Amino acid sequence: MAYRIGYLVGSLASGSINRRLATALVGLAPPELEFHEIAIRDLPLYSPDHDADYPPSARTLKEAIAASDGILFVSPEYNRSIPGALKNAIDWGSRPWGTNSFARKPTGIVGASIGPIGTAVMQSSMRSVLSFLNAPQLNSPEVYIQFRPEHYADDGTVTDERTAEFLRHYMAEYAAFVQRVLSVTAPGHI
Ligand code: FNR
Repeated sequence: MAYRIGYLVGSLASGSINRRLATALVGLAPPELEFHEIAIRDLPLYSPDHDADYPPSARTLKEAIAASDGILFVSPEYNRSIPGALKNAIDWGSRPWGTNSFARKPTGIVGASIGPIGTAVMQSSMRSVLSFLNAPQLNSPEVYIQFRPEHYADDGTVTDERTAEFLRHYMAEYAAFVQRVLSVTAPGHI
């Protein structure tokens, strides 16, 4: 059985290390996971004024989440929290009231920093947000990456075997978690 995983990259930077990490994770994931990126770049800032008539980019976001069996967040930490562009995307997906797109979606949170904290504080913030949105989260293993460019090739391949093994293990655990959650929330699906 294949599972469709939508992933959101929390950085808009052209040389984003989190985009490289996302590419690496996709490459190391077990074959039962199929990935598609859920783009956040073109979303306007959320306002409840849009609830009566969502703009096309926000409709596309909600449709992409609805079409996903699981959601993977790969994000930097900005000022010890969630980058504004990613939080804005989550706010769009959570509304209009009563149509929260994240409810019951199995989620994973991963992040890379240039510093040693490895996005731990951002991930803690994300866990509060996703709990409020009733999104089950893979609690363990946790992935706090201090990004070392020498461990990655330009095409996203992980050249450091210990890092590759760790990320491969995470994706295997995430796949098993998605299957576990769906066996409860969508038993006809598996
Ligand atoms: C950062 N950075 C950062 N790093 C960190 O470990 N904790 C933090 O709180 C912050 N805060 C922060 C704020 C802002 C506005 C920027 C631009 C950067 C540094 C961050 O880890 C580094 O820029 C990464 O390269 C960001 O990831 P992407 O964009 O390359 O994927």
